[in-house]
Amino acid sequence: MARLIYILNGPNLNLLGQREPEVYGHTTLADVEQACAALGAELVLKLRFLQSNHEGQIVDWVQEARGTAAGIIINPAALTHTSVAILDALNAFDGPVIELHISQVHKREAFRHHSYVSQRADAVMAGFGTHGYELALRQMAHLLV
Ligand code: DQA
Repeated sequence: MARLIYILNGPNLNLLGQREPEVYGHTTLADVEQACAALGAELVLKLRFLQSNHEGQIVDWVQEARGTAAGIIINPAALTHTSVAILDALNAFDGPVIELHISQVHKREAFRHHSYVSQRADAVMAGFGTHGYELALRQMAHLLV
């Protein structure tokens, strides 16, 4: 049976492709979802691909993943740098967690260098562009073997 993976996206990632394309590129979140769906089928992983601008909604999805999902890939976006609530929710999840950033956050402003989520993440990716989502999915499949 295909295992379920949550791919969670935080604030402003709905604007991917339009928002600061020099930083985040021209690919839209719908393009990313499509590429993940194709790869998920190949890797025999079932995906729940979600985006919200609201912290509480992301906490709710992490809680929903408890007991149903095998792993979580999360780009918390700006909430990476502020959200103890998302960290606490992830701490209550048992499977592998991969934290993903499209941009290379360590090359950017100092406030982007700290991540609450990194205290829970089993792997952290930054700077692979939107292609990072496919790489994260492959790594998730590897972690779940
Ligand atoms: C981001 C990096 C964050 O610092 C920023 O707030 C985002 C996107 C990334 O994918 O590079 O919204 O998580």
